[in-house]
Amino acid sequence: PGDDPSNYYQEPDLIRDLEFPRDKLSLERVLGRGNFGQVIKAKAQGVGGADKPMTVAVKTTKDGSSADAKDDLLKELKMMKLIPPHPNVVMLIGYCTKTEPVYVIVEYCALGNLQNFLRKCRSKRDSTYANIQVDERLLTPRDLASFIWQIARGMAHVASLKIVHRDLASRNVLIDKNKVCKISDFGLSRDVYDTDNEEYEQKTQGRLPLRWMAPESLFDHVYSVKSDVWSFGITMWEVLTLACTPYPGLSPPAMMERLRNGFRMSKPVHCNEEVYDIMRKCWEDDPEDRPTFIDLVRLLEDVITKAE
Ligand code: ADE
Repeated sequence: PGDDPSNYYQEPDLIRDLEFPRDKLSLERVLGRGNFGQVIKAKAQGVGGADKPMTVAVKTTKDGSSADAKDDLLKELKMMKLIPPHPNVVMLIGYCTKTEPVYVIVEYCALGNLQNFLRKCRSKRDSTYANIQVDERLLTPRDLASFIWQIARGMAHVASLKIVHRDLASRNVLIDKNKVCKISDFGLSRDVYDTDNEEYEQKTQGRLPLRWMAPESLFDHVYSVKSDVWSFGITMWEVLTLACTPYPGLSPPAMMERLRNGFRMSKPVHCNEEVYDIMRKCWEDDPEDRPTFIDLVRLLEDVITKAE
């Protein structure tokens, strides 16, 4: 069907029936633990008819976790099944749902999450602020621009499917061995076809990613592709500071009060005016005034080509 994701959208269940035989998985070690779940590195035998086992990541609930945790994992799987493969979105490889525990099998991203990766790449001399050195082992401004552009491309794909991610942040972007960034963690995401509206009204309060949230999400519980664009702006800021915590020095209530009064984070040191301008557009008060992810991909391409 070509590059246009909408061509794949017709019957996602038909093209993505990926129930995988559990006995063809050998679990190796825990990669990460969250509140309710864990991710385990594993080898999967026979993916797509291949002879060689494939290294994968298996997302599952922890022993003795609640019915809610299992529900959340199944919801995340449901979302992932709607997403046709894209290089900048973590790919669903399969799942084991016939018996418990449920496994969601996704592609393995050897460099882990972008937040940890960026923090590890900080120079030893200056660990508080991004100190980008021209050193092959460290990240170049070009790498950082590329990460941001890739995240925008992944989100443009997600947004084209009318899926609102609701938790875009560098901790939820994975990075593979070729330094390709992949949007991950669809645990909080919602399909706007669930409602009749472009915007999703949140009904229950869980733990919220306050520092990444748009004002309309913080104050009115409204989520949309445009609130994902706000979070993208915060994620850009994280990349350019090598993953400092947004609104440094401000407590959540202080941050919210400042936001209400129109305060925005200042330009990171290693960021040019043009890139800061893009970030600021993501933080427009009126969601309609923010760019789309398609706009962002184009704006970032302009910046990258000009820098060459
Ligand atoms: N941590 C969480 N998900 C992961 C993945 N797919 N690959 C590597 N590390 C991970």
